[in-house]
Amino acid sequence: MTAVAIPGVDNAPTTHERLLSWVREVAELTTPEEVVWVDGSDEEWTRLTDQLVEAGTLTRLKQKPNSFWAASDPDDVARVEQRTFICSVDPEDAGPTNNWMDPAEMKTTMLDLYRGSMRGRTMYVIPFCMGPLTAEKPMLGLQITDSAYVVASMKIMTRMGTKALEAFTAPDGTERDYVPALHSLGAPLEPGEDDVPWPCNEEKYISQFPETREIWSYGSGYGGNALLGKKCYSLRIASVQGRDEGWLAEHMLILKLISPEKKVYYIAAAFPSACGKTNLAMLEPTIPGWKVETLGDDIAWMRFGKDGRLYAVNPEAGFFGVAPGTDYHTNPNAMRTIEKGNSIFTNVALTDDGDIWWEGMGEPPAHLTSWKKQDWTPDSDEPSSHPNSRYCTPMAQCPILAPEWDDPQGVPISAIFFGGRRADTIPLVTESRDWQHGTFMGATLSSETTAAAKGKVGVVRRDPMAMLPFIGYHAGDYFQHWIDTGKRADADKLPKIFYVNWFRRDENKKFLWPGFGENSRVLKWAIERLEGKAAAVETPIGYVPTADDLDLSGLDVSKEEIEAALKFDADEWRAELPLIDEWFDKMGAKLPTLLRAELDALKTRLSAE
Ligand code: GDP
Ligand code: PGA
Ligand code: MN
Ligand code: MN
Repeated sequence: MTAVAIPGVDNAPTTHERLLSWVREVAELTTPEEVVWVDGSDEEWTRLTDQLVEAGTLTRLKQKPNSFWAASDPDDVARVEQRTFICSVDPEDAGPTNNWMDPAEMKTTMLDLYRGSMRGRTMYVIPFCMGPLTAEKPMLGLQITDSAYVVASMKIMTRMGTKALEAFTAPDGTERDYVPALHSLGAPLEPGEDDVPWPCNEEKYISQFPETREIWSYGSGYGGNALLGKKCYSLRIASVQGRDEGWLAEHMLILKLISPEKKVYYIAAAFPSACGKTNLAMLEPTIPGWKVETLGDDIAWMRFGKDGRLYAVNPEAGFFGVAPGTDYHTNPNAMRTIEKGNSIFTNVALTDDGDIWWEGMGEPPAHLTSWKKQDWTPDSDEPSSHPNSRYCTPMAQCPILAPEWDDPQGVPISAIFFGGRRADTIPLVTESRDWQHGTFMGATLSSETTAAAKGKVGVVRRDPMAMLPFIGYHAGDYFQHWIDTGKRADADKLPKIFYVNWFRRDENKKFLWPGFGENSRVLKWAIERLEGKAAAVETPIGYVPTADDLDLSGLDVSKEEIEAALKFDADEWRAELPLIDEWFDKMGAKLPTLLRAELDALKTRLSAE
C-alpha cells in the first residue's frame, strides 16, 4: 500500500494492477491534496463546473444551457510546437521535423518538475477511450491531471469515466493495455495561497515517448497541450502504433456526402490547424439535392477492411473548433450544435447578458468583456476574441451527425483531400494521378501558419499531410508508410487523392473562392471524377477542372475569379520547386525514392511548359 496516505488514492474502482500502481506512483511524486477517480457522470460535471465557477476559471453563460466561458492565461492560448518533444531512444527516429530529447534525460527533467507539482490541488484520474468503446480492441488511455477544466473538457471530447474504465478489463478478464498520459499545470499551491483563475507554468513540456507509448505534459492547461487524448495520443502516439501495425492516424475530418440519387460517399480531408476542417466536416451544400453528414472534424484513424477498402474512425467524441469566423452563414451546423449547450468556450468574448461573441458573428455588441477580461467596444484596437479561441462541444449534439459515427468498423473512404492555406500557386482543386502521386501532394503540402500554434502567423511552411506537428516519428519513414499503404490494396479500392486550396487570393488579398458551403461544388466534382462523369484538364501538377467542369449554377462569382482560383500557373510552380527540393533534402536518406522520382517527373513536365 502507499507510503503517503493521500486521500482517495485507494478509492480505485478497479483492480487493474498496472493502473493502480501508476496512479499511486504519480500521487506520491506530485503530492496532491486528494485523488479523485473520474466517473464521467453528469453529477460529477455539475460538481466540477460549479467548483470552476467558484474558482473564477469558468463563468456560467446565462443564454446557453449548461455552458461556460473561460479565459486562459494570455500566454497559454495555443499548442506550443517549440516545447513539444518526441523522445525516441534514437534521435534519428524523431526525424528532422520534431524536437528530440533522450527519453531518460527528459524523464529526469520532468520528474523534477512533477515533484510536488500538484501540491494543494486535486489529482484527477480519467480513464478514457479514443474511438468507440465497442471496438474489438478499444484504444484506452488514462490521463492524470490536476486541472478540473481538463476533466470537464475531456468529458466532452472523449468517451471517459466508468464506462471507459470497464473496458480496461477484457471479456476474458485480462488487463488491457492503455496509454498513460500524465498532465500537470505546474502550479502547486502553498497552504493558504489563493489560486488564480487559469493556473499554468511559464515552463512547458509536451513530451511523447513513442517506444513506451507514454505522454507527459507539463505547464499548460490549453487544448492540444492538455487534453492528451487529442494530438498527443490520437496523432503522435497513434501514428507510431499505426506505422507498427499497418494503419494510419491522420489529421483529417471525416464526412459523408449524399448525392441527389442518394448515393453515399465518405471523404476524409487533411488541412493544417485552422485551415477549414471543422467547417468542411459540417458543410451545408449550396448545390440542390446534395447533403453532408458529419463523422469527425479533426482526426481519422484508417485501416483496411476485409474488402480491401480503407475504413476511417474518428477517435474523438467532441468538437474543439476555432470560434472566430463561425456563424450561421459560414457554419450553421456548428452554431446549432453549440446552441444546445453543454459546451465550454475558451478565449472568446463575453456579452453583458451572459452569452458569447466572437469576430465573424455579425455586428458586434456595443460592449463586451474581451478574452483578456477587459472592457471591449467596437472601437477597441484588438479583437475581442483570441484568433485561436475555441468552442468545445459534444458531437452528439450536431444536427447532421451521421448515425454511423460511433460504428467501430468505421466508414469506407472514397476520396482523401489534402489542403492548405496558400494565397497563390495552389489551384482550388487538383486531382492526383494515382496514390503515389497523391502521397507526393500530401508530402509536399504547404500552408501559411495560423494562430492554432504559438509563433508567427502567415508564414508559408511545408506541412506534410497537415501532420507536421503531429508525426510521432521520422517524416521520411512516415512518407514510406503512406507509399506502403498504397501497395497493400488494389488501386481501384484505394481512395482517390485530391489537393485543394480554399484560400487563394487576388492582388487585393481578397479570397478568390467563396468557400464554406460553396466548397460542395468541389466535393461534387471530385465525386463525379470517381464516377468518371466529370471532365478535367491534365496539367503538370495533376488534373485540374476548368470553370465549365464545375457546377457553378447559382453562384454569384465572376468567371474571371473562378478561373483565377482554378489556374495552374507554371511560373508559380517553378518558383515552388526549390522549396520542395529543400524540404525533401531535409529528409536525407529516408526520403522514399518514389517521392524523389515524383519530384523529378514534375520538374521535367514543368520545364516542358
Ligand atoms: P480547422 O482548424 O482546420 O478545423 O479549421 P476551421 O474549420 O475551424 O476553420 C478555421 C478558420 O478558417 C475559421 O476562421 C474559418 O472561418 C475559416 N475557413 C474555414 N473554411 C473556409 C473556407 O472555405 N474559406 C475561407 N475563406 N475561410 C474558411
Ligand atoms: P484544429 O484543431 O485542427 O481544428 O485547429 C486543433 C489543433 O490542431 O491544434
Ligand atoms: Mn487539429
Ligand atoms: Mn477544427
